[in-house]
Amino acid sequence: MKTSIIGSGSMGSGIAQIAAQNGNQVVLVDTSQQAVDKAKAGHEKILARLVEKGKLKEGENLEIVNRITYTTDMSQVVGSSMVIEAIIENLDIKKKVFTQLEELCDQDTILASNTSSLSIASIGSALKKPDRIIGIHFFNPAPLMPLVEIIPAVQTDKEVAVKAREIIDSWGKVTVIAKDTPGFIVNRVARPFYGEAVRIYEEGFADPATIDWAMTELGGFRMGPFTLMDFIGHDVNYAVSSSVFEAFYYDPRYRPNFTQKRLVEAGWLGRKTGRGFYDYGEGAKPPEPVKDQNLGEDIVWRILVMLINEAADALYLNIASREDIDLAMTKGVNYPKGLLQWADEKGIQHCVDTMDRLQREYGEDRYRCSPLLRKMAREGQTFYP
Ligand SMILES: NC(=O)c1ccc[n+]([C@@H]2O[C@H](COP(=O)([O-])OP(=O)(O)OC[C@H]3O[C@@H](n4cnc5c(N)ncnc54)[C@H](O)[C@@H]3O)[C@@H](O)[C@H]2O)c1
Repeated sequence: MKTSIIGSGSMGSGIAQIAAQNGNQVVLVDTSQQAVDKAKAGHEKILARLVEKGKLKEGENLEIVNRITYTTDMSQVVGSSMVIEAIIENLDIKKKVFTQLEELCDQDTILASNTSSLSIASIGSALKKPDRIIGIHFFNPAPLMPLVEIIPAVQTDKEVAVKAREIIDSWGKVTVIAKDTPGFIVNRVARPFYGEAVRIYEEGFADPATIDWAMTELGGFRMGPFTLMDFIGHDVNYAVSSSVFEAFYYDPRYRPNFTQKRLVEAGWLGRKTGRGFYDYGEGAKPPEPVKDQNLGEDIVWRILVMLINEAADALYLNIASREDIDLAMTKGVNYPKGLLQWADEKGIQHCVDTMDRLQREYGEDRYRCSPLLRKMAREGQTFYP
C-alpha cells in the first residue's frame, strides 16, 4: 500500500514512521526542504536506537527508511491509497492542499487530516468529491501514543470510515470513532484537567507543586497538570483551550484562564523556554508540595468530578460511545482509568452532589451538571453493568 503524508513536522514525520514500519511505501512531502531533511535525520536516529534496544532487527531500520520517499514535490503522491495531511493548523492553507490532492489522486483515495481543532467538514468542503474526507487524529509522539481518533465528517461515506479504521488498526493503533465536534474526544474531555487545576491555584487553594503531587500520588495520573502544561508548552495548550472555547460558542465551561495567558505573554512557555509554572534553569530547585492528605484528596476529586462531568456530557451528546470515551482517555492521555468507569466507582449520585455543590458555591455555569449524570442518579443507573 502506498500512503502519503503531507507535512513533515512533529506529527507528519511520526505518522510516516508508523506507516513505513508497517510495510507501507510512504511519500513524505513538505514545502520546506529543511523540514524534510530533519524528518529523515530524525527517522535514521530513532530507528537506529530501536535496533540498539533490540526492538528492530539489524538492517530493518534501513529498510524502513528506504520505504520512505522524502520530497518537496507534491506530485509524488500519485497512486496513493491514502493521504494523511499534517501541515500547519490553518484552514485556508489546508483547503488549498486538499484541492491539489484531489487533482493528483484517484477517485477512491482516502483523504485524511490530522487536524486537532478544525472541523473535518470545513476541510472536506474544499473537495469536489468530499465523501472520502476523514479525520485521522494521532497523538504526540505518534509512534508511541497508541490512540488514534477517527472522525467522519457529515460528508464522509460510511465505507471510507470503515476502511480508514481498518488501516489504522492494522498499524497496531487503538482506534476510536468521534463525532466531528470541537476537540473530538480527548481535547474536549481533558479541558478540566488543566482548567480546573489552574482555577484551584488561582483561588489560592494550593500551589502547582501541591496540585501536581495530589494528582500523581493520590490520583494516579502519570503527570500533574502543571508539569504537563509546562511540557506541552503554554503557547500550544493556551491555543487549544482558546480554540475549543471559541468553537463552543464561548461556553463558560471551556473558558481559558488569565494565568496561562500571562505566561504566554511573558514568554514563559514551559520546559522549552526554561520557565513556565516551574523554573527549569540550571540549579533551580523544584518547589516542595504540601503533602496534606485531606487537601490532596479534595483537589483530586474536584478535578476528577469535572473530568467525569465532561465525559458524561460527551456520551450524552453522542460524541462517542461509552467504551470509546474511556479508551480515548486511557490510551490517548494515559489516564489511570476510564472516566465513566471511575464515575461508577465514585458513585453517580456523589458526582451529581459535588457538581451541584460547586455550582451553588460559585454560581457559575462552568459547574453545571451533565443532564445524563442527573438522569442516571435519579434512576439509580451506572455506566457499566
Ligand atoms: N503537535 C501536536 O501535539 C499535534 C497533535 C495532534 C495533531 N496535531 C495537528 O497536526 C498538524 C501538524 O502539527 P505539527 O505539530 O506536526 O506541526 P509542525 O509545525 O511541527 O509541522 C508542520 C509542517 O507542515 C509544513 N507545511 C506547511 N505548509 C505546508 C504545505 N502547504 N504543504 C506541505 N507542507 C507544509 C511545515 O513546513 C512544517 O514542516 C496540525 O494540524 C496540528 O493541529 C498536532
